[in-house]
Amino acid sequence: MDSFELNKIIGAILGTLLFVMGVGFLAEAIYHPIVDRGPGYALAEAEAPGEHGGAAAEAPPEVPLGVLLASADATAGQAVSKKCASCHNFGEGEANKTGPGLYGVVGRLIGSHEGFAYSAGMEAHKAAGDVWSYENLNAFLTAPKSFTPDTKMSFAGVKDPVERANLLAYLATLSASPVPFPPAEADPAAAAAAPAEGAAPAPDAAAAPADGAAAPAATEAPAATEAPAASH
Ligand code: HEC
Repeated sequence: MDSFELNKIIGAILGTLLFVMGVGFLAEAIYHPIVDRGPGYALAEAEAPGEHGGAAAEAPPEVPLGVLLASADATAGQAVSKKCASCHNFGEGEANKTGPGLYGVVGRLIGSHEGFAYSAGMEAHKAAGDVWSYENLNAFLTAPKSFTPDTKMSFAGVKDPVERANLLAYLATLSASPVPFPPAEADPAAAAAAPAEGAAPAPDAAAAPADGAAAPAATEAPAATEAPAASH
């Protein structure tokens, strides 16, 4: 083997090394490894409550219960009530099971079904004179343990607001004289009035005199006379 042959071999080895290193440098230049950024993406379970899941869960409650009830379907609610039937009877005068009978529950004093041994939490609601209004039922059925922390009702809750409204509409039928639904308008008005309080008077006061001056609209009159009176 002469030195020329040896040079070729060494040259080949060095060339290969150079090529491998070159590829390494090139790869590093193209793909920057990113450190300290945590997981590539948050798994739904971990981040959902604050983000997408939260948004989805928060949006429906903004539809007021009265509005949901106005379009609720009692027949669909009866199907939902199958989830409850293992523990509750729904018929008039039927026996308590694991849970108390639910005939006539809407409007009933909480924890007041005869012959049922309620949890201390339900007894406390009863002592406070709380009744099963649609709002209370809605809150309880969303998350029983949030409404009554020590409740004996081992049931996760009905998470879908529409499904819940249907269920409430069904419960409403379990009575000789069903309790009327809360008005569909009440909540949005209250919700709109509350945040607007600070800002509303100015535009209102500005608009009211204009209305009064332009046209003596009978329907606008009470508002028009009230608003200037308040600003005087
Ligand atoms: C695993 C059994 C179980 C299931 C399923 C269940 N409940 Fe109950 N429920 C109970 C028990 C037990 C109580 C008594 C709670 C207490 O004393 O804290 C109760 C209490 C109640 C009350 C309060 C009644 C009163 O007289 O104050 C209502 C309303 C109610 N359940 C509705 C429902 C509805 C609607 C469903 C179905 C969506 C349901 N429950 C599913 C066991 C159950």
